[in-house]
Amino acid sequence: MTILVTGGAGYIGSHTCVELLNEGYDVVVVDNLYNSNKKAIDRVEEITGKKVRFYEGDITNKADMDKVLDENKIDCVIHFAGLKAVGESVEKPLEYYENNIGGTLTLCKSLREHDVKNIIFSSSATVYGDPAFIPITEECPKGVCTNPYGWTKHMIEQILTDLHTSDNKWNVILLRYFNPIGAHESGLIGEDPKGIPNNLVPYVAQVAIGKREKLGIFGNDYDTPDGTCIRDYIHVVDLAKGHVKAINKIKEDPGVKVYNLGTGKGQSVFDVVKAFEKACGHEIPYEIKPRRAGDVPVCYSDASLAKAELNWEAKLTIDDMCASSWKWQSMNPDGYNS
Ligand SMILES: NC(=O)c1ccc[n+]([C@@H]2O[C@H](COP(=O)([O-])OP(=O)(O)OC[C@H]3O[C@@H](n4cnc5c(N)ncnc54)[C@H](O)[C@@H]3O)[C@@H](O)[C@H]2O)c1
Repeated sequence: MTILVTGGAGYIGSHTCVELLNEGYDVVVVDNLYNSNKKAIDRVEEITGKKVRFYEGDITNKADMDKVLDENKIDCVIHFAGLKAVGESVEKPLEYYENNIGGTLTLCKSLREHDVKNIIFSSSATVYGDPAFIPITEECPKGVCTNPYGWTKHMIEQILTDLHTSDNKWNVILLRYFNPIGAHESGLIGEDPKGIPNNLVPYVAQVAIGKREKLGIFGNDYDTPDGTCIRDYIHVVDLAKGHVKAINKIKEDPGVKVYNLGTGKGQSVFDVVKAFEKACGHEIPYEIKPRRAGDVPVCYSDASLAKAELNWEAKLTIDDMCASSWKWQSMNPDGYNS
């Protein structure tokens, strides 16, 4: 079976390519390298000893997508390509809607013309907005998103669902990720943010290696045990394996399915900092800053549906996540440009 991975040179995409190749799938990647590096693909090949068919191309460009689909017989698409910086999306809504939604529409038109109707989409817990209840099950109503990035996920879920309604040959699996962190155990692939990291762990890792002076923690007066926000951090390798399980599901012609991919456990910002200190062997300096607009105090999943229907559950711990992240950071202090 051949899987097309859009955004396959990116953080989650590259880890997923490793798991797909290890499971014996052929992998075709299309990525415009806007937020990634071709070296990630070379490293995927190094880890697995297998080849990836790589296209430098843009999902918003129909000719690029037609070329990939003309030249390969694709059985299923895993669609990661998109812009993902929450703050930037507030400043550049048009670019986010154009790239994420426009790109998905163009991709799907090309898929339809090539009769490829199995798609697994990278959605996010952000679609729950301020969640109606915790732990969050898939039954939790979708909420009001606080930024254009979140709305793109919200809307793309609807677009793909409508596609199935129009033609039930489409199978759509919407995977709602919680907070992916960590890196491959080899230390060869990991998260390589451009500029100032937007997420907690890449920032902590850069403080740990001495690239940044201290970590800013946004609020320590939330109604949580230690006052900091609680999230459901999930190891990127566990997350990647969830996609392989989703492919097994899609082979059953399931129609539209939605799954949370999380650990089902909440960890505070201080829990992560402590685990990272243990991994790197020294203290992480930090300062408390004001709360950030739009941050919900507590967000974690109930991932039991994925366990029941995909036979998937997260296995790796917060210590595994921080140790692998530190290994990646120390082996590659400047990411893929080291
Ligand atoms: N990392 C997270 O915390 C998180 C959480 C929930 C959902 N997601 C979603 O998962 C997906 C992957 O996230 P990631 O963390 O690996 O991000 P990433 O930026 O590392 O990967 C996305 C990849 O898509 C590529 N890309 C962007 N626009 C493209 C276009 N028009 N054409 C071709 N390629 C394009 C980028 O170059 C990059 O390689 C994204 O859709 C993201 O929104 C991520």
